[in-house]
Amino acid sequence: MNFEQRRKEETAAIEEILQRYLPAKEGYAAVVSRAVSYSVLAGGKRLRPMLMWECFRLFAQEEEQEDAARQMLEPFMAAIEFIHTYSLVHDDLPCMDNDEYRRGRKTTHAVFGEGVAVLAGDALLNLAFETASQAFVTAGEDGDGDRMRRCGGAFGILAAKAGIGGMIGGQCADTQAEDYPKERISQDLLLYIHENKTAAMIESAMMIGALLAGAGEEEVRSLEKIGSKIGLAFQIRDDILDLTGSLEELGKQTGSDLKNHKVTYVSLNGMEHSRQEVRRLSEEAVSSLKALGNNVFLETLVEDLITRKK
Ligand code: IPE
Ligand code: IPE
Ligand code: MG
Ligand code: MG
Ligand code: MG
Repeated sequence: MNFEQRRKEETAAIEEILQRYLPAKEGYAAVVSRAVSYSVLAGGKRLRPMLMWECFRLFAQEEEQEDAARQMLEPFMAAIEFIHTYSLVHDDLPCMDNDEYRRGRKTTHAVFGEGVAVLAGDALLNLAFETASQAFVTAGEDGDGDRMRRCGGAFGILAAKAGIGGMIGGQCADTQAEDYPKERISQDLLLYIHENKTAAMIESAMMIGALLAGAGEEEVRSLEKIGSKIGLAFQIRDDILDLTGSLEELGKQTGSDLKNHKVTYVSLNGMEHSRQEVRRLSEEAVSSLKALGNNVFLETLVEDLITRKK
């Protein structure tokens, strides 16, 4: 099977997992459930659950791929996509980036109104932890507590990397920096923003996949460093596409960063250097992945992100 075919199949499998954990759309609060499903099922790339799955594969024993470990992995795959989706719903709000389109359609607040969009984001964050907690149910069955410990570690990483020391921290600095005078904008601030708003969730995905498969502390730490490079490259590419992409291909409007006076990699370092950095960071990440084990699909996925158009 070639790379594109396999990616398509994995994306479809992830869609099916996400469907399983979405809330029922009934009762007086049905609208918030509809907004949750609308935002989740809008057709994202599913990169974070896919990275989690592939890092799991990198370390899982043959017999663990199928059964209980898989039952631990799937709730976490859904959980990280729910958190990511909430971050997008809130990121598009008028009080943040004020964008109209996401994942190829009108963004959540444009369809359901701001109040429901705020609540849908909040609901997704709660749903994420409710879903991840299901991993503990089967993890308790192995007797020696090892799987329970892995789930506990994964739960902690999921929470921390999405929080103030991760995605929320990065989003906060990103928003604050819109109003900074030129002399307050530095390379250090830019890296803080990108590392936290974007790389932290990618690190989280990769670390959790490895941890659930039984990887050791050293290996999980290596994946954190690799995830940091992939995440930084991913956000630099996002900054490039905001200037060079199209709504049709990207599924979101371009020119958002200029409109909002954002600090971006391109605004600080120029287009040419930005492109070079995406390639350099991604190639370094791939060579470190090769040293950890054998997963050609994962390596190709990371390489593919260098020139992605969406
Ligand atoms: C968009 O993430 C937000 C950033 C961190 C740049 P993705 O580009 O992964 O968005 P989806 O999930 O494919 O919609
Ligand atoms: C947002 O970065 C990253 C998130 C944590 C949502 P951007 O604001 O650049 O993401 P897009 O371009 O709107 O997807
Ligand atoms: Mg933003
Ligand atoms: Mg945005
Ligand atoms: Mg962007």
